[in-house]
Amino acid sequence: MASKRPRPRSGNELMVERIGNYRGLTIFLLGLSGLINVLALTGAFYMLQIYDRALTSGSVPTLVAISVLAIGLYLFQGLFDVLRSQILVRFGARMDARLAPLAHEVVIEMPRYGYSTAEALERGRDVDTVRSFVASSAPIALFDLPWMPLFLIFVFSLHPLLGLLTSIGAVVLIALTVLTEMLTRRVSGEMHKAAAIRANLADSHARNSDILKAMGFGNRAIARFSDANAKHLTLQTRASDISGSLSGLSKVLRMMLQSGLLGLGAYLVIKGEFSAGSIIACSVASARALSPIDQVIGNWKGIVAARRSFRRLEETLAAMDDETKMIALPAPCRSVKVEAVTVVAPASGAVLVSDVSFSIAAGQVVGLIGPSGGGKTSLAKGLVGIWPLLRGHVRLDDADLTQWRKDALGAHVGYLPQDVSLLDGTIAENIARFDPDAEARDIVAAAKAAGVHEMIVRLPDGYQTALGPNGTALSAGQRQRIGLARALYGDPFLVVLDEPNSNLDAEGDAALTEALTSVKARSGIAVVIAHRPSALAAVDLIGVVQAGKLVGFGPKDEVLREPGRPIAFPSGGAVRPAAAAASAVASASMI
Ligand SMILES: Nc1ncnc2c1ncn2[C@@H]1O[C@H](COP(=O)(O)OP(=O)(O)OP(=O)(O)O)[C@@H](O)[C@H]1O
Ligand SMILES: [Mg+2]
Repeated sequence: MASKRPRPRSGNELMVERIGNYRGLTIFLLGLSGLINVLALTGAFYMLQIYDRALTSGSVPTLVAISVLAIGLYLFQGLFDVLRSQILVRFGARMDARLAPLAHEVVIEMPRYGYSTAEALERGRDVDTVRSFVASSAPIALFDLPWMPLFLIFVFSLHPLLGLLTSIGAVVLIALTVLTEMLTRRVSGEMHKAAAIRANLADSHARNSDILKAMGFGNRAIARFSDANAKHLTLQTRASDISGSLSGLSKVLRMMLQSGLLGLGAYLVIKGEFSAGSIIACSVASARALSPIDQVIGNWKGIVAARRSFRRLEETLAAMDDETKMIALPAPCRSVKVEAVTVVAPASGAVLVSDVSFSIAAGQVVGLIGPSGGGKTSLAKGLVGIWPLLRGHVRLDDADLTQWRKDALGAHVGYLPQDVSLLDGTIAENIARFDPDAEARDIVAAAKAAGVHEMIVRLPDGYQTALGPNGTALSAGQRQRIGLARALYGDPFLVVLDEPNSNLDAEGDAALTEALTSVKARSGIAVVIAHRPSALAAVDLIGVVQAGKLVGFGPKDEVLREPGRPIAFPSGGAVRPAAAAASAVASASMI
């Protein structure tokens, strides 16, 4: 769907649009940092004045005047420092507020681009990483870094030799930073991948805890996890070793440099080329010149992580930018057209459904049948826009799905997935799709249409029953019926039900047929995927999906009567009764 964008904008443009022009702010903060750094020369000048003027002249008023001036300058420096960090914290918070909703949107959208839950959740952490970086001492060090020459010039002005030594120290420290970056880049990339693998495993085990427990392979799961963990730890140790040793080395160099400067200063004093005040001033100024480098080296891991997170957020913005100024379309009321649709698996790109075309008019119900693994669910996912289409179009009243805003389209679509899951919330919230303005009347109407109203009101908390994280407070059949109510809520034009009766009893089947009949009566369109015949009572048309192709489509009686059709689905004995289908009927009649 990304290819449908009228003018693809870069991630960076979109980032500026979302969080404001941070380049302007960067320049402002750089200027402010310049001011702070000029004021930071106060200490060095003060030493110079004290030793070389006040002490030599022995004048107390001079000492007081110099001190008062220094205090004033220090206060200004402190004020600007506070201002700078407050601006950064607020900028971080603003970024978070504007990016966090996007990161959460990724959680919803990413699976359709083939990302795992853990990878999608990582985007949420990216926002945290960037925010805490912005509020940390690292950006301050980065802003101070360009002003380092100020202190170098000061030291040079005291004595060229000292200036040279400080500059050499600075170059060596910077070289160390670059070396750290080069050595850790590859390892930290690998470490990141290993962390993602570990998170995916943890996620998968958490979701399948029932299975692990029931069949007792929890220990094997733990072993797999600890393997992944060990890989991650090894890489982490290697990365920490590299950055740890280099940062240790830089600390030692720094101390040596500091002492070297004092030693050289003392030598110059002995030689009579230098004053005692200059030694102290030089020491203060050179310490200040080198401290941003120290800070940057110390924060290097954080800087790299924040940069990676920021880039990823930019990429995400570019990937998600498909809702460009869409015009609101009128509610669909005439038809659903599927034109040469090819659906691919988001992760692998494997073609699951190819070149499927059919059209449905308002007031018709279509049944999709076919053998297991034939591609019915995949087609349904293409039909409601969960998975992007490789080729072809799904049109609601002739408008391609991509022309609809997601939220507007959602109101016209009801979807019941094959593995029903409900969200953490109450039954009422789940049915109403968490619409805060939902009318009780509509919720009850949807529940009644799904034949689940009586069951809900019999629960102690009725519609307010809280379902827990995965809607686990209900039985599979109850979940399926509430899922059906959610699909029917608001009388959507297109209702797609993926095996809506797999967990239903006879009463549920009857309710389903009635629900489909009422969709028909209000001139809606329903697509029902079914393995069991009971779901097809209200169906007008039938499509047969097999090996990713639509191998038959037409009025129910005609399709089911067609001879030789290898349908894993029996209907009134008209089709050859496959063993699997026979057992399905047997199980249906047992319910
Ligand atoms: N996310 C996915 N990634 C890759 N392949 C997939 C994915 N989901 C399904 N498939 C493959 O697509 C094919 C069709 O699967 P699909 O779920 O559409 O079948 P189905 O007709 O709904 O089957 P069933 O009746 O068992 O539900 C299968 O071969 C399956 O392995
Ligand atoms: Mg399926």
